[in-house]
Amino acid sequence: SRSINLAVIPGDGIGQEVVSQGLKVLRAVLPQDVKLETREYDLGARRWHRTGEILPDAELESLKGHDAILLGAIGDPSVPPGVLERGLLLKLRFAFDHYVNLRPSKLFPQTATPLAGRPDIDFVVVREGTEGPYTGNGGSLRTGTPAEVATEVSVNTAYGVERVVRDAYERAKARPRKKLTLVHKNNVLVHAGHMWKKIFDKVGEEYPEVTTDYLHVDAATIFFVTQPERFDVIVTDNLFGDILTDLAAAVTGGIGLAASGNINPTGAFPSMFEPVHGSAPDIAGQGKADPTATVLSVALLLRHLGYETEAARVEEAVAADLTERAGAAARTTDEIGDALAVRVAN
Ligand code: IPM
Ligand code: MN
Repeated sequence: SRSINLAVIPGDGIGQEVVSQGLKVLRAVLPQDVKLETREYDLGARRWHRTGEILPDAELESLKGHDAILLGAIGDPSVPPGVLERGLLLKLRFAFDHYVNLRPSKLFPQTATPLAGRPDIDFVVVREGTEGPYTGNGGSLRTGTPAEVATEVSVNTAYGVERVVRDAYERAKARPRKKLTLVHKNNVLVHAGHMWKKIFDKVGEEYPEVTTDYLHVDAATIFFVTQPERFDVIVTDNLFGDILTDLAAAVTGGIGLAASGNINPTGAFPSMFEPVHGSAPDIAGQGKADPTATVLSVALLLRHLGYETEAARVEEAVAADLTERAGAAARTTDEIGDALAVRVAN
């Protein structure tokens, strides 16, 4: 019989609240014969304050044994910036070689968007997840003096670029429009930018059915707002992808709806699914957080594990729920989770 051995990292702030709803919907949508086992990992700000630990080796090792990871949010104002982000979230993405950071953007019917009359936003950003300016390569000189210097060096390997570009071509090929846009800044970042473009063009020779395009990242931000329908699949580096996907979320109903998957396509390590949003400490514990981004991340998780029917059912439930939401009274985190669980069970 089938089974899913899931690691759960609720993390900080609203993480616990939204992850509970994600699990609720997951349990409701899974067929009877699928055995769901979950193990919760106590990682994040509370753990750090209590023990000083961020991600002990034993837990990293144990996480490897799961089929997938569901993560809520990492980061808390009581911890210096970067400690948990680098030591936990990015450490997991790097250790488990999550080189495809998949972030779909779809404008569901009835969803509030600042872009009036644009019903046709449906693209996916393939953000590189293990390289670029996120590697921590850089340093500080003469700290605390007027002559201080800080460098943050973007690392781009042909190996790393080619594998994510190839994954993006495969995704574009599988979609009806078959269009892939490379976003970079090769008019200024000539070293990395030219390598990305060269590899993008070379791999593209193997995908004659895919239409390609190139945009500088600044121009891409304009088109996200003025012409989002021009995008199908986008491939870009780690930092550009981080920024673009927040903008993408803002134009498709807000950060409360944006899902993501940190994917290791080879299956060598478990992939990790998490809402794009952060820990939102200002509203934590108040039942105000929208769990929809986590629920949609559960849909990505289901699809990744081969449960396509169930993934689609979750997405349909969200679409229906969002349609009903328009003009209705605000609901709590729990109420939204309950409503979605009821929908997917039917
Ligand atoms: C995200 C977040 C992270 C990132 C932070 C918290 C390290 O902003 O998942 O988009 O920059 O990747
Ligand atoms: Mn981000």
